[in-house]
Amino acid sequence: MTGTALHALARTWVVVRDPSSVPLVRRRVVDQLTAWQIEMPTELTDDIRLVVSELVTNAVRYDTSDTPTLTTQVVVAPDRSELYFEVQDGTPPDLPTPRPARWGPEDELTVGGRGLLLVAARAKRWNIEPTEGGKRVWATFALPTTPNIPQRVRDTVRAHVRRAAPRIRIHALPTK
Ligand SMILES: Nc1ncnc2c1ncn2[C@@H]1O[C@H](COP(=O)(O)OP(=O)(O)O)[C@@H](O)[C@H]1O
Ligand SMILES: [Mg+2]
Repeated sequence: MTGTALHALARTWVVVRDPSSVPLVRRRVVDQLTAWQIEMPTELTDDIRLVVSELVTNAVRYDTSDTPTLTTQVVVAPDRSELYFEVQDGTPPDLPTPRPARWGPEDELTVGGRGLLLVAARAKRWNIEPTEGGKRVWATFALPTTPNIPQRVRDTVRAHVRRAAPRIRIHALPTK
């Protein structure tokens, strides 16, 4: 490897197991990425927001342990190519099992059950692992590798492409 060796960037927040922690952690993660000067397309930020919300919401809702707190962590890999987010709660990982989404009239009877499917769809990888005190549920995202293009240029190009082909998702623009 040439050039300056970078180190991983990491931040941990211990929050109360309360619904108010969902927007709090979501905001902290996004603010921290800004503070680390990790530039990314708006769609990716939205995906990260959504996954953070789903994972923290689940931990708030379904952790039945005595632990009154959740431990959340965001890590950016040393080469800045990947973002990792995890939530640790105090309940062992016999659950969750994502249920398949159902469509049609049955929908009204199926309350919820889509959060982890959304996580699986938006994250690059995700998993549930046991910890000493319960479990961690984590998700990763690929980060764009062309930080030298100003965000405003990327946003403009992206807006043009989106208008022309709404289904294309751009996470990185070529440098040339
Ligand atoms: N952190 C967690 N601890 C324990 N059970 C969980 C956790 N997260 C999810 N689950 C279980 O997995 C199920 C599916 O989760 P999810 O897909 O987010 O749907 P929803 O939250 O709408 O029920 C939940 O209903 C719950 O039973
Ligand atoms: Mg959920």
